[in-house]
Amino acid sequence: MKKIIVTGCNGQLGRAVNEYYKNAADISFVNTDVAELDITDIDAVMKLAREVNPYAIINCAAHTAVDACESQYEKAFAINAIGARNLAIASRETGAKLVHISTDYVFDGKGTRPYVETDPTNPMGAYGSTKLAGEEFVKAFADRWFILRTAWLYGDGKNFAKTMLRLSETHDEVRVVGDQFGSPTSTVELTKAIDALLFTENYGLFHATCEGSCCWADFAKEVFRLAGKDTHVEAITTEEYGAPAPRPAYSVLDNRMFRLTTDFSFADWHDAIAAYMKTL
Ligand SMILES: NC(=O)c1ccc[n+]([C@@H]2O[C@H](COP(=O)([O-])OP(=O)(O)OC[C@H]3O[C@@H](n4cnc5c(N)ncnc54)[C@H](OP(=O)(O)O)[C@@H]3O)[C@@H](O)[C@H]2O)c1
Repeated sequence: MKKIIVTGCNGQLGRAVNEYYKNAADISFVNTDVAELDITDIDAVMKLAREVNPYAIINCAAHTAVDACESQYEKAFAINAIGARNLAIASRETGAKLVHISTDYVFDGKGTRPYVETDPTNPMGAYGSTKLAGEEFVKAFADRWFILRTAWLYGDGKNFAKTMLRLSETHDEVRVVGDQFGSPTSTVELTKAIDALLFTENYGLFHATCEGSCCWADFAKEVFRLAGKDTHVEAITTEEYGAPAPRPAYSVLDNRMFRLTTDFSFADWHDAIAAYMKTL
C-alpha cells in the first residue's frame, strides 16, 4: 500500500486528486488541509511525515488569491515558499517523492511564444514571486521532486468559470479582460498529468497546462456558449479592469517536458472546459 500525504485537500486540486484515486486499491491517502496540517509549521510537517512515512507528498496547498497576496506578502511567502520548503525537507528525510504545483505567473508575460521550462523567470507580483521562491526551495531541499507549473485552474471550488456563470444570473453583459493570454486548465487534466509522473523516476520541472490558449474574455465567451447563455462579453483592457496585482499579459506555457519525456498529452482547453461544464 502506498501512502500519500495530500496537503490543501479541500482546495480545487486537492479535491480532484482525491476524486481521481478514489477507487485505487493500492493507494491510501492521508488528507490534510490547514486545520490538520499547517504547512508553514515545520515541526508539524516533520511529525506527520515521520508518522506516515509516505510514498509521496502531493502539495495542493497554496495562497492562491493573487490580489490579496500583494497586501499579504508575508502570509503568501509563508504558505507558498516556506510551506513548500517544509514539505521538501520532510520529503528528503523520509525518502518520499514530492509533487509541488507552481504557476505561469513566475513569468513576466513579455514573451511572444509559449514559455518552455528553461526560459528565465521574472515574476511581476507577490503571488508569482512567492511561488517562484517555493520552486527554488523545493529544488534545494528535496531529492525526488516534480514541479508542475499550471495556469488558469478550474475545478471543484471557486474559479473564473463559476464566477462568470454567477454573474450571468444578474447581468446581461460582463466586462472581462481581453489582453491577457493563457491556457485555462482543468484540475482533472492536471491530476492526470500528476498521475503520469507520480509512479516514475521522471523527476524535474514540467509545464502542465491544457493545450491551446485564449484571453479571459474568450474563455468567458466559451463558458457562456457551453452553458447556453446569451450574456454579452465586453472585452476590456487590464488597465480598465484595474486589479491590485499586476499579471502577465502572455503566460502561455509549452508543455515541452511532458511532450518529450512522457506519453501523456493534455486535452485542448476547449475540450477540458466542455467536460467540466457537464459536471456542473
Ligand atoms: N487557481 C489557479 O488559477 C492556479 C493557477 C496556477 C497555479 N495554481 C497552483 O495550483 C495549486 C492548486 O491551486 P488550487 O486552485 O487548487 O488552490 P485552492 O483551491 O486555493 O486550494 C488551496 C488550499 O490550500 C489551503 N491552505 C492555505 N493555507 C494553507 C496552509 N498554511 N496549510 C495547509 N493548507 C493551506 C487552502 O485553505 P483555505 O481556502 O482555507 O485558505 C485551500 O484549501 C496551487 O499550488 C496554486 O498555486 C493555481
